Amino acid sequence: MTQAGSAGFAVELPPAAAVPPIPPSADLARQYVARAQAIEALHNRQTPDDVAALRERYAAPVFGRVSPWSLIEMLGQCIDPTDQSLYGASQQLHVLQVIDAMEREGVASDALLLVALVHDLGKVLLLTGEAPENVVCMNIPVSAGPPGGGLDRCTFQWNHDEWAWSRLKDHLPGDLAWLVRYHSIMPGSCAQYMDDLDIDRCRRLLRPFARYDQQTKSPFNVPQRPLAHYRALVERALPSTMMF
Ligand SMILES: [Fe+2]
Ligand SMILES: [Fe+2]
Repeated sequence: MTQAGSAGFAVELPPAAAVPPIPPSADLARQYVARAQAIEALHNRQTPDDVAALRERYAAPVFGRVSPWSLIEMLGQCIDPTDQSLYGASQQLHVLQVIDAMEREGVASDALLLVALVHDLGKVLLLTGEAPENVVCMNIPVSAGPPGGGLDRCTFQWNHDEWAWSRLKDHLPGDLAWLVRYHSIMPGSCAQYMDDLDIDRCRRLLRPFARYDQQTKSPFNVPQRPLAHYRALVERALPSTMMF
């Protein structure tokens, strides 16, 4: 560029020998793990009061009225800084890896494709400045319900599950809404609080889904199809816009 307007684009870099070396990958991996552990420690410190405050904070829409598809596309910008299988790979890649495995195994019904596409939608909160310990990590109860009384009567640690469920519950079949809400629980931590429907959904939905959700993650796993392949399904299954 030699015309007017090029002035701001002049290249000015220090000589490579004059600046410190960029940290090698092994150092970055150690830093990544240390940060992941620090975030998990903060998540595990959530109290019932913290959960109540987060519910209150996120009762009102964050993004306003948006299309569900635009939120799914935003997952391409979301990186879970605690994920030690994906590392810096995006949540959009994660979703496509889940779907890819389901398709290869011949189980990719519309219902499973839909729940795979939306189960981590709550992670778009990572783009808003919310602390990662309130968006990611696994969840256990912070206050118990009665034994056998149902998971809905327990209070769990708060993360993307609860928030996405609060937005999607009126637009999804009951089974899928339940799976969005509880996909980060550790069933062993709350088995005594499950009612018969939770036990059934855990067996039919959560445990099979968790196999795809947890075990397909890898920065080396390249899915066969692009995200756009699933747009028509999302637009058929969900309203054109929703408050999110
Ligand atoms: Fe998740
Ligand atoms: Fe996931």
